[in-house]
Order: sequence, then structure tokens, then C-alpha cells
Amino acid sequence: MKDLTPNKADLDPIEIASIDEIRATQLERLKWSLRHAYDNVPMYKQRFDEAGVHPDDLKDLKDLAKFPFTYKNDLRDNYPFGLFAVPRDQIIRLHASSGTTGKPTVVGYTKNDISMWADVLARSLRASGLRAGNTVHNAYGYGLFTGGLGAHYGIERLGATVVPMGGGQTEKQVGLITDFKPDGIMVTPSYMLNILEGFHKAGLDPRDSSLSVGVFGAEPWTNAMRKEVEAAFDMHAVDIYGLSEIIGPGVANECVETKDGLHIWEDHFFPEIINPATGEPVEDGEEGELVFTTLTKEGMPMVRYRTRDLTRLMPGSARSMRRMEKITGRSDDMIILRGVNVFPTQIEEQVMATGGLTPHFQIELYKSGRMDAMRVLVEATPDAADNLSKTASARMLTKHIKDMVGVSTEVIVGDPGEVARSQGKAVRVIDSRDKE
Ligand code: DLL
Repeated sequence: MKDLTPNKADLDPIEIASIDEIRATQLERLKWSLRHAYDNVPMYKQRFDEAGVHPDDLKDLKDLAKFPFTYKNDLRDNYPFGLFAVPRDQIIRLHASSGTTGKPTVVGYTKNDISMWADVLARSLRASGLRAGNTVHNAYGYGLFTGGLGAHYGIERLGATVVPMGGGQTEKQVGLITDFKPDGIMVTPSYMLNILEGFHKAGLDPRDSSLSVGVFGAEPWTNAMRKEVEAAFDMHAVDIYGLSEIIGPGVANECVETKDGLHIWEDHFFPEIINPATGEPVEDGEEGELVFTTLTKEGMPMVRYRTRDLTRLMPGSARSMRRMEKITGRSDDMIILRGVNVFPTQIEEQVMATGGLTPHFQIELYKSGRMDAMRVLVEATPDAADNLSKTASARMLTKHIKDMVGVSTEVIVGDPGEVARSQGKAVRVIDSRDKE
């Protein structure tokens, strides 16, 4: 793989500033952001007043812990525009996510917000090893989802050429990658596996493709998956994180030269880790729920937004800003099976570690008598699709999951192509517990 370490001269100065300078910038911006939220969004005024706190009480970054949390439900309760902090005519873009229940959550951006977003995304791409003059194939979905347009503006801001492909049409994706010879690809890791399959179906060796880096996010993925995709394409695979409520993709990104967790762009998004049960902040290094406060966002400031994503904070490495560890999963995705906590990423690791299986998998939860039970649906690779091999793979994966994750599961090994393919964010868990 090519050495893609960016030139120091191309970085934003704040990326390599001293911690003191970063903290001073954050404090100044945080004061502005709390004041902006309080003065312009009735919900924040009411919440702060109820909690007996005022933006003037923030003298130090630690004082943020006195302020109340914001939850996804607050966006639903204020549907569609109740959390906007500027007059409607200053909002130039809306995005929305459908969620699984109830009304969608809507987010709004001012012109400055869109520009800041392009900046942090361009910074993320630079960290990923891309630069001006490169071509980037963008296979994140366009539309209300923040992935497509967020990446698109960032690629342009970097000074690279964007191929605005969007999700789906795998054959066409393979054709365009072959013809346009992009340096980078942006796509969910699970859809990248489909593109990989597309290369094989077309009789092409993915290692001969022009791609030298993939920027993968929007869903949890493991280091085991990274190795698989890096080997398959002979390219770097780096992690990009973000969420619509905070801005979209580009809240944090890995550096290609270290791949040791995602640097949070802390000059715009202030992170905390809290104990999800008590709401108390924990020290850097300890696991917990990630909480963000926006520092510069105008259209829809977020104060102490509970992401539900589980990770921990680590000191800076390739950049001064703190890193977060690859996300283990969302607290919502955690399966509790006979008292054991299981995340789909743990199953992914074991699927990748078992021979004779493709990386495609789904987890089904069902009732066995009165007990919850779990079934893992995987599929055989074409060279291990005979009954004997399938039985051996099933036995091996069952054992790996029992030994490494600590739960007993049924494993069903299907034929190649039998597990449902992702078009964007993979659906990892099918809950059939009410149906049986
Ligand atoms: O998924 C934004 C995005 C688009 C990020 C493209 C990266 C690339 P939402 O649809 O609002 O926004 O979903 C946000 O997705 O809270 C995490 O649970 C999950 N997520 C996003 N990136 C990662 C990642 C976009 N790198 C939710 N690793 C977040 C693990 C991720 N989970």
C-alpha cells in the first residue's frame, strides 16, 4: 500500500496546535454556543432554567457537566423546525433521518454551517490520505441522508473531483470505478463488500483497481473487516464517523498514517463520555456513551446530545485533538441474551475469523420457549459450499462465538449470495421475537 501521509503544511493549523490553544478556542466557542442556544431556542431556555443553570455559569470546560442533556426524542417532540436557532430564511439546507419509529428527525443548516461541514469533511479526507487533484467515487446515498451530500461538498472543498454515484447499482459502480480510475471511495463498509463481489462477478481483480483509500463509516465495522477489505483491494481503509444531529459525516476521522482511532474535530464538536446509566461524566480512557456539544453550529446548535454510541476517548497521536476508539456499537443495538451483552460487531469479528465464510451476516433473535435465542445467518464461500464444509464452518463459528463472546447460538450457513445484501447501512439484527 502507498504511503499517503499528508504534508504537515497542508493541515489546518489547529489540527496540530497545542492542547492549551485548542482548549482556549473551545471555551470561547462553547460560551458562544450555549448563549446562542439559550437565547434562540425555547427548549434550551426552558431546560437550562429548570436545571438552574445559565450560559454565564460556564467559566471552565468542566462546567458543561452542569447543563442538561439533549435526546433524539427532543428532535421528534420539536418536529419539524422547533430546534432551529435562526430565522427560517437563513436555513439553506434540510436533512432528515427516518428512524425506526415515529416522526423523522429533521436538521437544518445555515450557509456557514454548510461551509464548516465541507471544511471538516475535507479535513477528514486529508487525514484519510486524499488530496487536491484526486478523484473520489462517492457511493454514500444522496438525498435526505447526510452521507451523500456531506461527502460531496467535502470532496469539492478538498479540491478533488467528485463522482456523485450514490448507493446501489453495484454493476455500474464497478464499471465507473474501472473507467474513471478514482483514487478514493466513500461508502458504507457493508456496501463496499457488495462492490467487492461486483468486481469478482465481472471477472476483475480488485487489487488492480485504481483505488488507494476507502473512507468507510455510517455504521460500526471492525478491524477484522478493515484487514479483509485492505487485502482485497490493496488499499487503505479508514474510519469516518458522524451523525446528522451534530452535522453529518466528518465529526471524527482516522489518520491513514496511524489508523489508531478517530480524531474528533474538537474545534467544532466538543466530546464527553458519560456513564449511560447515571449521566455522570467519566475520565478520558473509560468506556461510556459519547455526548457532543456543537461549538460553532448556527442553524441548530446541540447541547450535550446523547449519541447512544459507545466508545472511549484517548489522547491525540497523529493530530493534537483527542481520538475516540472505533465504535463498539450503539446502546440501542446491544442484544442482551440470557444476561450476556452482545454487539453485532463481536459477531462480525468471529465471522471474519472463521474459514469458508463470506463476510456477509445477519443476526436473528427469536423465542425458544420463553427464552430469547439468537441465530446467526452466514453464507459459504463458493469453494466451501458443499454440505460437509458448510457443517464444519457452522460448527466452527458456533464454537468461536461461544468461546469469544460467551453465548450459545445456532448458526445457519447458506449458499453464496443467500444473506441479504446491504445497499447502505447494513441491517444486522432481525428481531422475530414477537412473531414466534
Ligand atoms: O450515518 C453520517 C455518516 C455518513 C457518517 C457517512 C459517516 C459516513 P446518521 O444517519 O445520523 O448519520 O447516523 C448516525 O451512525 O450515531 C452511529 O451510530 C452510526 N455511525 C456513523 N458513523 C459510524 C462509524 C450518518 N464510523 C449514526 N462507526 C451514529 C460506527 C457509525 N458507527
